[in-house]
Amino acid sequence: MLIAPSLLSCDFSQMGQEIKRMEEAKADFIHLDVMDGHFVPNITFGAPVIKAVRSYTKIPFDVHLMISEPLKYIDDFASAGADIITFHVESDSDIKQTINKIKSKGIKAGLVIKPNTPASSVFPYLKDLYMVLVMTVEPGFGGQSFMADMLSKVIEIKAKTKTENPALLIEVDGGISEDTIGQAAKAGVDICVAGTAVFKAQNSKKAIENLKAAADLEI
Ligand code: DX5
Ligand code: ZN
Repeated sequence: MLIAPSLLSCDFSQMGQEIKRMEEAKADFIHLDVMDGHFVPNITFGAPVIKAVRSYTKIPFDVHLMISEPLKYIDDFASAGADIITFHVESDSDIKQTINKIKSKGIKAGLVIKPNTPASSVFPYLKDLYMVLVMTVEPGFGGQSFMADMLSKVIEIKAKTKTENPALLIEVDGGISEDTIGQAAKAGVDICVAGTAVFKAQNSKKAIENLKAAADLEI
């Protein structure tokens, strides 16, 4: 299992150092939650902040756009140094056009689905994607409870990718802890985002090790 700590739970006054801390903790990706106060009822940070902290690590930046019009801002997030950009299938931008724009910048593209959105909504795009992110909480805030019933969507997407794009990675986001990661692993999840579980732990390195160990038990 790969772990992507979400900076949403970090100390924002020390973002660069927090990223360094995640590198020392052996994070596989850095997950960056971009919220516009319109697509979700919360505002975080945008491309200039990502650009400012990009040099603190070489770990890939997994940028999760919770914004209404992702297509408008792909250039900005590309020049900020995103390695993966995921955007919501429920957003207002043309999906195919947005995927193409991301890929034209040499960036890996992913689609995200909210809890009430069916797995089938990403089926038409599977061949073009590097990742599908299945939300296991309503997007907007860290520290919410894991919605285990979302894992049936992971299984559904996994089955579909077998023939259409076997390399596609499935990520889940929200409520991941040592108690819930095993279920995600069993369903076939490749990457787990973890905010609270990693940043609020006494020892983040140990927290990542423990998450991976708990996932391994179920595979
Ligand atoms: C929610 C964000 C998540 C969130 C996860 O909108 O997309 O990345 O930070 O936080 P935890 O792990 O605390 O649920
Ligand atoms: Zn996220």
